[in-house]
Amino acid sequence: MKKAKLYIDDQEVYEIPVLEDNMKGISLDIRNIRKDTGMITYDPGFGNTGSCQSAITYLDGEKGILQYRGYPIEELVEECDFVEVAYLLIHGALPDAKERYKYQELLNQHSMLHVDMLDFFRKYPDHTHPMSILAAMGVSLSAFYPEINLEEDPEAQMDLTVTRLLSKMRTIAAFTYRKLIGAEFVNPSYQYSYCANFLNMMFHSPVREYTPNPVHVRALNKLLILHADHEQNCSTTAVRLIGSSEANLYAAVSAGICALWGPRHGGANQAVIEMLEQIRDDGITVDEAVKKAKDKDDPFRLMGFGHRVYKTYDPRARIARKLCAEVLEDLGESDQLLEIAIELEQHALNDEYFIERNLYPNVDFYTGIIFRAMGIPTNMFTVMFALGRLPGWIAHYLEWNHDPYEKIGRPRQLYTGPTVRHVIPLEER
Ligand code: CMC
Repeated sequence: MKKAKLYIDDQEVYEIPVLEDNMKGISLDIRNIRKDTGMITYDPGFGNTGSCQSAITYLDGEKGILQYRGYPIEELVEECDFVEVAYLLIHGALPDAKERYKYQELLNQHSMLHVDMLDFFRKYPDHTHPMSILAAMGVSLSAFYPEINLEEDPEAQMDLTVTRLLSKMRTIAAFTYRKLIGAEFVNPSYQYSYCANFLNMMFHSPVREYTPNPVHVRALNKLLILHADHEQNCSTTAVRLIGSSEANLYAAVSAGICALWGPRHGGANQAVIEMLEQIRDDGITVDEAVKKAKDKDDPFRLMGFGHRVYKTYDPRARIARKLCAEVLEDLGESDQLLEIAIELEQHALNDEYFIERNLYPNVDFYTGIIFRAMGIPTNMFTVMFALGRLPGWIAHYLEWNHDPYEKIGRPRQLYTGPTVRHVIPLEER
C-alpha cells in the first residue's frame, strides 16, 4: 500500500495510507490520524473530505462528467424515463421490460394517500411554502406507514417502504399545489405513467378537458433524471448523516428535503427566476446585474451560477438549456426571461471575475424557465427538484445501510470559545 508522509516543520510525524478508487482518484486515509497522533483535520464545508465510499454516481467537476451507476447522464436522458433511472439508482442496474412493468405497477399500487393525511393539507395556511408541506408530509408518512421493521425480512420491508416513498411523494407534491391554489385534490390514476400522472394530479380540472402534453411529459422525465442524483451534495449528505443515527428512511429523506430548500442548493431554481424577474421589472441591465454580483459589499449573487464541484460547464445545465428551447418552441412563445438568461450567461462567461473563479451556469439556471413554461409556479420549483432527487436520496440511504464501514456521522471541531473559567455566584456578578 502506498503511503504519504506528514511532516510538521522538518519532522516526519505520520505516514498516511493512500487509497485509490475505481477512477484512479487518490485519497489520504486519515481515519486513524487522531488515534495515532492526537491531531484532527480541518475542512469547513467538507470541500476536501470523502465521507464515504459510494458506487452510485461518478462526477468529474473539472471535465464536466456525470454518470449514474456508470451510465453517462446524456445517454440516460435520451434513452430512459425517470422510473427506469430511479430503478437504476436504487437497484444498481437498469430494469428489463418485465422488471420495468412490475415496478410501474408497484408504484401505481402505492400512490394513494391515507385519507387522514388529507386533513393535514387542508389545515396549512394558504401562504405556506410548499417545501414546508413536503418535508412535514414526508416524515408524517412514517406515522401512517410505519411498516419498516428491519428485523423481519428487511429487504422486503425496505422495498415496500422505498416504493411507497417514491410514489406517495409525487402525490404529496401535487396535492400541496392543489391545496395552495384552493383546488380539490385529484387522485393518481392507473391510466398514466409516473410523470403524466403527476401533471394530471397538478392540472386536471373538472371544468375543462385536460390531457398531459406529451412534450411536457417528456421534458419532466428528463428534468427529473437530471436531478436524480449528484453524489455527496448538501441534501444527500444530510440524508446519509440522519440515516447514520439509524433514523428511518422517511425521517432521513425529510431532512434531505429541508437541506435542499436553501437558495444555495435546490432553492436556487426559484431564486434564479426571482432574479431574472427582478432584472426585468426593475429595469436593471445585464451589465449592472453582473457588476452587482461581483461587488463583495453587495449580497447579490448570480443565482444559478457557480458550483462547489463543477469548474466547467455543468453537463446538466447544457441539457437543460437545450430542453428549454424545445419546450418553448412547443409553446410557440418566446420568453423574455430566457432572453435575459442567455444574455446574462454570455456576459458572465466573458467576464474576468467569472472566468478566474470558474463560475459557469449550473443545473438551476435554465430549469426554472422550463418549469414555468409547463405551468408550474415558481414556489413549486424546489419541490420538483426534490421529486427528482428522491431516488438518489433513497439509494444513498440504502447504500449507507449496507456499508461495512458505516459509523454514526460525528465530525470534530476546532474549539474557539473561552478556555476554562469559573462561575461567580449571581449576587457577585
Ligand atoms: N455569483 C457571484 N460570485 C460567486 C457566485 C455567484 N453565483 N458563486 C461563487 N462566487 C464567488 C464567491 O464569492 C467566491 O469569490 P472569492 O473567491 O472572491 O471569495 C468564489 O466565487 C468561490 O465561491 P464559493 O462561495 O467559495 O464557492 P462554494 O463552492 O462554497 O459555493 C455555491 C458554491 C453553489 C454555493 C455558490 O457558487 C453559489 O452560491 N451559487 C449561487 C447559488 C446556486 O446557483 N446554487 C445552486 C447550485 S447547483 C444545484 C445544486 O446541486 O444544489
